[in-house]
Amino acid sequence: MKKIIAVASFTALFLASCTPKASTATTPVTSKSTAAQIAQGKSIFENSCGRCHKLPDPTSHTPVQWVGIMNWMAPKAKLTDEQHQWVYDYIVSVKK
Ligand code: HEC
Repeated sequence: MKKIIAVASFTALFLASCTPKASTATTPVTSKSTAAQIAQGKSIFENSCGRCHKLPDPTSHTPVQWVGIMNWMAPKAKLTDEQHQWVYDYIVSVKK
């Protein structure tokens, strides 16, 4: 029961945070990736983001700046929406 309440309140929080693409996926897209997805984001980042330029330093920009950079770079790196999210969450996780 507790879990359902937690999920419901998280969903409410997520919807309130106005994410434009929230409705495209069949499984709930959460704004926080699991550790496994962040690990995947790291390897995608290392494999895809150093091809055209030096691998960027995740701490060189703020999370807000990374949103814009990722919107710009994800299509260049041909990332899916999921990969885009994982790479972003990896980058932001380095910052902390
Ligand atoms: C197809 C080539 C390509 C790929 C793949 C690519 N980038 Fe870029 N990236 C560019 C180009 C071109 C620029 C602009 C460089 C310039 O003007 O100096 C750039 C610039 C940047 C910058 C600098 C932005 C700024 O404000 O200074 C960052 C950070 C960056 N990319 C991150 C990434 C990340 C993260 C990925 C992986 C998701 C990625 N890039 C994948 C081509 C690419």
